[in-house]
Amino acid sequence: MAQSLSTSMISSSSCAFLAPTKLDSRPQSVSLQVKRVGVCKCVATPQEEKIAFKTMVSRNANIAKLQAGYLFPEIARRKAAHLLKFPDAQVISLGIGDTTEPIPKVITSAMEKRAYELSTQEGYSGYGAEQGEKPLRAAIASTFYRDLGIEESDIFVSDGAKCDISRLQVVFGSNVTMAVQDPSYPAYVDSSVIMGQTGQFQKDVEKYGNIEYMKCSPENGFFPDLSTVARTDIIFFCSPNNPTGAAATREQLTQLVQFAKSNGSIIVYDSAYAMYMSDDNPRSIFEIPGAKEVAIETSSFSKYAGFTGVRLGWTVIPKELLFSDGFPVARDFNRIVCTCFNGASNISQAGGLACLTPEGLGAMHQVIGFYKENTDIITETFSSLGFKVYGGKNAPYVWVHFPGQSSWDVFSEILEKTHVVTTPGSGFGPAGEGFVRVSAFGHRQNILEACKRFKQLYK
Ligand SMILES: Cc1ncc(COP(=O)(O)O)c(C=O)c1O
Repeated sequence: MAQSLSTSMISSSSCAFLAPTKLDSRPQSVSLQVKRVGVCKCVATPQEEKIAFKTMVSRNANIAKLQAGYLFPEIARRKAAHLLKFPDAQVISLGIGDTTEPIPKVITSAMEKRAYELSTQEGYSGYGAEQGEKPLRAAIASTFYRDLGIEESDIFVSDGAKCDISRLQVVFGSNVTMAVQDPSYPAYVDSSVIMGQTGQFQKDVEKYGNIEYMKCSPENGFFPDLSTVARTDIIFFCSPNNPTGAAATREQLTQLVQFAKSNGSIIVYDSAYAMYMSDDNPRSIFEIPGAKEVAIETSSFSKYAGFTGVRLGWTVIPKELLFSDGFPVARDFNRIVCTCFNGASNISQAGGLACLTPEGLGAMHQVIGFYKENTDIITETFSSLGFKVYGGKNAPYVWVHFPGQSSWDVFSEILEKTHVVTTPGSGFGPAGEGFVRVSAFGHRQNILEACKRFKQLYK
């Protein structure tokens, strides 16, 4: 039976990650992010103000195809509207999937040092290599791709995986066809729409024309039935997956690589959550024999080191990956990187290098371990309430099933009655309908409080 909760149950303070060594020694008060409440307008929201002047430039028709704004700004808009309605609500955000714990000191001190050096004659540097600093590229290769035949020169350091997804789309152009897991991280579909690779949005099926949606549901173990998937040029594949939390097995990824090979397709493999994996599944697509000829991998420091604001990621494009005319994909990507991007911040790169020292790796594992404990708490809560719960084990997301209900209705009910922001599954694709994603990124007290409220709502 659903019950409303009081709006002022918890106090506010911030929580330091590294100071206490034991998780339960964290401050017991709760930090609630109610400061940045400004009304957030979606990209696709029509302008309501009186128009005084219009240019003669027509709107990019591909951008105009996008539906109701990017998912996360839409959630921010609804959260802001909720706060206008309940100004005293202690809102807990388990929606967008942004990290909350401080960056370990071993990492920030390296950035601090680099920032300081920039103010000295000897230490100053301007533009760096567009592909990233050599020591960082080498450290990424040896940390994440040891013995997989990936070399430093195959790695492009960037300002994040999302930015690289869009730059890859620029490389592919508007004449390619693409497939995505359904549900999937919205940046793949939206960047494809913007590039003009798709048709219009078809309201009846909630899909864009000319995209192959590869359904991933509990029925198929969240891995698509490739025998029913049409050939496309590009296949976006994320494992561990956002939002379902599912991680593909070695056998499944072997099937995927074979599928790409027999179709002459390119896989864009997103491994942004690989370090969250508990099961013994591949952490990189390049663990699969033959993948270097058909795959690109993009990844990120965002969810490993709390770099969502610092901005640092990388993309691996093996030399073996060729277009149909034999031209290396990496050379075109390099051209785009040099034209559209001037390299990741040198301060971020110093942080990235510190992340990959033994101390940095240990500190990242500690942060990841903390979020994984949050995941267990959320999973346990929904399971104890009788829900079917997926994900969680290999990713910081819990995918909760509300059979027969609309995701947005469940999202609204949870927000209205518990003041907790989640993410409606249908925002990730039509196969996400009936699910809600609960993010494990949060201060421990917020996670515990949110779970307490879920228990009151659904007991
Ligand atoms: C699957 C996936 N890929 C990429 C990103 C974006 O990463 P970055 O912060 O490096 O742009 C996210 C962020 O949530 C994600 O979930």
